[in-house]
Amino acid sequence: GPPLDELIAGLTVDVPDHPEPGIVFRDLTPVFADGPAFRRVVDGLAAPALSDPRAAALAGAGAGDRAFDVVAGVEARGFLLAAAVALDAGVGVVPVRKAGKLPRERIAADYALEYGTATLELHTDSVRPGQRVLVVDDVLATGGTLTAAVALVEQLGGVVAAVAVVVELAALGGRQRLAPHTVHALWTT
Ligand code: PRP
Ligand code: HPA
Repeated sequence: GPPLDELIAGLTVDVPDHPEPGIVFRDLTPVFADGPAFRRVVDGLAAPALSDPRAAALAGAGAGDRAFDVVAGVEARGFLLAAAVALDAGVGVVPVRKAGKLPRERIAADYALEYGTATLELHTDSVRPGQRVLVVDDVLATGGTLTAAVALVEQLGGVVAAVAVVVELAALGGRQRLAPHTVHALWTT
């Protein structure tokens, strides 16, 4: 089949002025709805952190080891991906949720979105100190969301093995904001 970035680009639908005037929204739902494309996306999100010796070394594992122990998915669209990536990799999945959803002891981080502001939360027992976490979401835009998710993981003593996204909107600078963390994007546009 086509290269993965071309496959994703071809299935993504650009929606002008959603959710606000001036935002061109990249709608990935047709990518996830396509079985073979979804399979390749999930494999693609898991693969770099499964095999990248640099990621493994950063996370404290031996070269060739899986570089992560658990996958953290960001509500809501990140959930669609994170559970599939975790199953693919043979590890568990934990939810990074919008405020007010998690029922037990939790920590919170506020962040600014491309459109508006919000709060993310994580159960304090979702990540143990030293645990290596692959943080997954669908889109990296300004990086505000993933910066908050990374901060929550690190506040609990977790080690971010990498951040993995389907689409990186490069002009919005999310990769720079997440530095020095490794960002794996399947399609950068
Ligand atoms: C979107 C997207 C990312 C984030 C990217 O989620 O799924 O999580 O925004 O933007 P950023 O890099 O500028 O932070 P949204 O908050 O719209 O929530 P949803 O997943 O519930 O639709
Ligand atoms: N598309 C989809 N999700 C997003 C976008 C976008 O342009 N910006 C922030 N989250």
